[in-house]
Amino acid sequence: MTTAYIDSPAWGLGLATVTASGQVLDVWFPAGNLGLGAAPFASAGAAADPAVDAANAGPGLDPATAAAAAAAAATLDPGATAAAVAAAVAAHGAGAGADTGALVDFSDIADSPDSPGSRLGLSGRVMRVEIQSLGAAPTSTADVYLRLHLLSHRIVRPHQANLDGQFGLLANVAWTSAGPCLPEQVDELRTLERRAGRRLNVFGVDKFPRMVDYVTPPGVRIADADRVRLGAHLAPGTTVMHEGFVNFNAGTLGTSMVEGRISAGVVVGDGTDVGGGSSIMGTLSGGGKETISLGERCLLGANAGIGISLGDDCVVEAGCYVTAGSKLTLPDGRVVKARELSGLSNLLFIRNSVNGRLEVRERQGRGIELNAALHAN
Ligand SMILES: CC(C)(COP(=O)(O)OP(=O)(O)OC[C@H]1O[C@@H](n2cnc3c(N)ncnc32)[C@H](O)[C@@H]1OP(=O)(O)O)[C@@H](O)C(=O)NCCC(=O)NCCS
Repeated sequence: MTTAYIDSPAWGLGLATVTASGQVLDVWFPAGNLGLGAAPFASAGAAADPAVDAANAGPGLDPATAAAAAAAAATLDPGATAAAVAAAVAAHGAGAGADTGALVDFSDIADSPDSPGSRLGLSGRVMRVEIQSLGAAPTSTADVYLRLHLLSHRIVRPHQANLDGQFGLLANVAWTSAGPCLPEQVDELRTLERRAGRRLNVFGVDKFPRMVDYVTPPGVRIADADRVRLGAHLAPGTTVMHEGFVNFNAGTLGTSMVEGRISAGVVVGDGTDVGGGSSIMGTLSGGGKETISLGERCLLGANAGIGISLGDDCVVEAGCYVTAGSKLTLPDGRVVKARELSGLSNLLFIRNSVNGRLEVRERQGRGIELNAALHAN
């Protein structure tokens, strides 16, 4: 899979959770509050809290880059927020640079001083985020969150936005039923919740939240919210069952049944079925270099695995794991490494149960017919 970033600006007006020391834990961009193109509110007001903006700009940046990053992702005071919202609403009316959907202005979302989050020193801040080019690496926590939202809102596809360096810009966060907090605050939050007559659920301690807590795209079915990270791109007609998993900057481009693992960067074409417990190798750990894609109308069988890209109309037998270096026997008896077949269409990969060889056979026809009733989401 080749990388083709788009060189477009992007903008967002989001609601951040910020710690007492100014660290940004998350930013939420509802539909309508983000889009490609120039920001409709570029001139709206100055940063209200330089400490937050400096922390949000991420560690290890030189002062000039940090200042530019802070300016591009600034917290707004109420006056500046109102101006930004008014400008964005006007731009919506003019149809310029905005995604579809009504703008959420957050002005009626206030932190109660008695809320557990407030007592932990957490506060909600409105953030204006502007990205000059999605082809350039992100420079702040809010910038990364905007890119993840652009993916999950299906405004960009996987690989269209540069996400280099994102792990260093994201905080490790405890995602709880009472909202996000720092991991070291969980015990205190649990106690505050019990005093308020509630039990705290901790969904995970991770750099990425669950997608559906931030973006719930129409036309998809997700059986277990824990299995899809923010930044996943799920096309309408996608069903992710309990065994399925979809990482950030990865996902589906059309109707798909996902019962296996779609690792970071992996893209799956229309009509492809990722079978129960199957694995599509990623590149984040374990040394894999090639970013894998599966074409249209493929079937990755149950408990199968694939370490090369598939073209269209391919089948991998249930339980058959094909790594890039696997040696495969062709119908004419030649033996080739699987990576030499990467991206080809109409192939069947099978482990011959008589002689134990991994074999590849040509397939005719149009591949797997998905059950239409399962995808009427
Ligand atoms: C690989 C696969 C597609 C083959 O299915 P198929 O095309 O219907 O083929 P068949 O099972 O009818 O087998 C055709 C022939 O090959 C033989 N065969 C099948 N798998 C074989 C293997 N691994 N080794 C040797 N022979 C095999 C069959 O015995 C049969 O032999 P025959 O012609 O003498 O009767 C199927 O076994 C498979 O793995 N499907 C994946 C299903 C799945 O996992 N779905 C997702 C659910 S979550």
